[in-house]
Amino acid sequence: MRKTLLLIFTALSLLPCNAQEQGSADIIPMPNKLEVTAGRVLRLGSEVKVSIPKDLNKRKAIVGYLEGRLNDNNIHTRSTTAKKAQLLLVVDNTLQDEAYELTVTPKRAVIKSNAQGAGFFYGVQSFMQLVPAEADAEAAVQCVEIKDAPRFQYRGAMIDVARNFQSKQTVLRFIDLMAAFKMNRLHIHLTDDQGWRIEIKRYPRLTEVGSKRSQTMIGHSDYYYPRRFDGKPQEGFYTQQDIKEMVAYAADRFITIIPEIEMPGHSSAALAAYPQYSCGLGKQYVVRDYMDIFDEVYCPQEQTFEFLQNVLTEVMDLFPSEYIHIGGDECPKKAWKVCPRCQALIKKLNLKDEHELQSWFIHRIERFVNSKGKNIIGWDEILEGGLAPNATVMSWRGEVGGIEAAKMKHKVIMTPGDYCYIDHYQEDPEHAPLAIGSYLPLDSVYAYNPLPESLTPEEQKYIIGTQANLWGEYVQTADYLEYMAYPRLMAMAEVQWTDAEKKDVNNFHKRLKTQFAWLDKKGVHACRNFYEAEFGGAWNNAQNVYEVKLKTLCPDAEIRYALDCADENRFKTYSAPIALDKETELWAAVYVDGKRMGGITHKRFAVNKATGCEYTCSPKAAWENMHEGYALTDGLRGFSKDTRYWTGFNKDTLRIDISLHEATTISRVKLGTLWRTWNAVWPVREVRVMVSDDGNEYRTVACKKPEYDFSLTEATRFPVEVKFEESGARFVRLVILGGGKCHEGHYNAGEPSELALDEIEIY
Ligand code: ACM
Ligand code: ZN
Repeated sequence: MRKTLLLIFTALSLLPCNAQEQGSADIIPMPNKLEVTAGRVLRLGSEVKVSIPKDLNKRKAIVGYLEGRLNDNNIHTRSTTAKKAQLLLVVDNTLQDEAYELTVTPKRAVIKSNAQGAGFFYGVQSFMQLVPAEADAEAAVQCVEIKDAPRFQYRGAMIDVARNFQSKQTVLRFIDLMAAFKMNRLHIHLTDDQGWRIEIKRYPRLTEVGSKRSQTMIGHSDYYYPRRFDGKPQEGFYTQQDIKEMVAYAADRFITIIPEIEMPGHSSAALAAYPQYSCGLGKQYVVRDYMDIFDEVYCPQEQTFEFLQNVLTEVMDLFPSEYIHIGGDECPKKAWKVCPRCQALIKKLNLKDEHELQSWFIHRIERFVNSKGKNIIGWDEILEGGLAPNATVMSWRGEVGGIEAAKMKHKVIMTPGDYCYIDHYQEDPEHAPLAIGSYLPLDSVYAYNPLPESLTPEEQKYIIGTQANLWGEYVQTADYLEYMAYPRLMAMAEVQWTDAEKKDVNNFHKRLKTQFAWLDKKGVHACRNFYEAEFGGAWNNAQNVYEVKLKTLCPDAEIRYALDCADENRFKTYSAPIALDKETELWAAVYVDGKRMGGITHKRFAVNKATGCEYTCSPKAAWENMHEGYALTDGLRGFSKDTRYWTGFNKDTLRIDISLHEATTISRVKLGTLWRTWNAVWPVREVRVMVSDDGNEYRTVACKKPEYDFSLTEATRFPVEVKFEESGARFVRLVILGGGKCHEGHYNAGEPSELALDEIEIY
């Protein structure tokens, strides 16, 4: 009788594993110790019996969270005893904070953590990542044994809600997604020149005035000169009640919110509300409607400190965080230099200069914050003029500031732009939606190691963690916020959690493929270039041919492509580099099990007789950011959106000597020249084409003075074409006159302009 009952019980509720079943153990971030029990799975029924100890920190939140996640898979939970539980949480106070153990057998899953609770929360995350995104009652959970703890205690992400406001719901969803990848600090940039986003009861004008602007610039701040504006008023702030909700929501997910109140710079919005705290008393300040660094900053007088301390007091009452971020970055000293009060203060305090005045400012704010039992974080500029005694440094201008601070035994959070600035482009900037610039693809985030080798192991202990920063200048919608954040935050989560020697980028891609299904299920507007084709074109010297290679980050996928054809039905499978002998646009897409998972991407290659040829420039290029030394003949035309693909010169006369692959006949030269007034880049005035058979004797075949539409105020690539009678040539020389002086009406009128070229084409 007992035996029969047991059999029925097992069949109904445990749905025991079949032999040799396989689930996936594609957890992000990679656990630090993971053993997969091959061929074994736990089958969850439509109702999972759960046992959770009574006396846990945040028990209610953990139970609610777990129920919510399982409900997403149509699996319900029922409370039961430890003995009967399929999912059992066990307190083990020998484990350190945030550490957990997860054992899944065909019978049950057991999560161990200390009673502080974070370990349970992270154990639940790992467990839920074992449940296939689309699974329901028949979910097969891979049997595993995990013993896990984070590499860094500070695992952050920053959002900037000052430049463009994001709703409370958007922030809560952002927190929810962070939690799924075991991140534990949300740094929220609440104030800047373009908006003040937190209610301060004592200073109502901060939100009445400071949270509103009349319009916003269109496009990138470098694109248009004069600037263009959308004419649409923008506003938004969080009430103190909103903040309390956000803080509690985050705390339930073991995330601490760190507020940033910027000072002394980036303070236009506050000064629009309370101009008496600026250096220029009586002047009218405005909430800024474009993105830049502004000269209006707080004036360090007694009444300003009283104001800032009152603000910080309300902020500290709202945020239980140990840390308050006080900014400190990008504070121009222009106002202080001409302000009699600032100058008198410098004298009185016997300071060397305005940098020391900034340092004194930050010291003073630190003393106040410390007096309330809290600590400050500041951007690495707070090192200049002397670091405040207890400050934690957020190193953003590379790692230099972080290294210096760690050597001084200060805590450091590493956020160098080259790895952590997820406001940069993550896919081909030519076709990507607008970002601030630069390029930070998924794998570059993944490659980051926040512990510099130049520090001793003892000094490295001061690096408490790292953080991805999502500045908001161009982040105007919630969907775009997610597009910029995902999947790069998953790479960052692994940088933060997983020991360096356990990281493996190919394995990360495999796991990302599994977890992307969960992002899709949650409706996350992630960037899909993981599932798209990337084009790499280069001259192959050995074969004497221009080749394009296609690749995708997604493992076990098929790439299909076509030349000069966007119709996916005519795509064929890519298997080897594609040789091009003329201008061609490639179109491609990525397929998993025959299904297209991302968009169709395309790239135009301007292959011509100059492509892949060596050249020399005299004088040498002043700037080249991509394809250094061959950018002008790399087969890719620069585009107006981004200057990094261009070769820049700061002399007005220029000679470029191109050595063709072979003696040939030519009759046309094309040259791209940039018009981008904000950067003082003017197009060429004259192009002279000369040819030679031996590289010594040159003769002029054509000279052109191009005409341009200078009424355009948008950054523009002007193609210049010089035609001439067919001539034999082995060498081609271009003698170029730059744009001359910046025109009347320009901010730099009368000063020399710069020149930017790309690409040189010869036909
Ligand atoms: C910063 O990116 N200005 C800290
Ligand atoms: Zn002043």
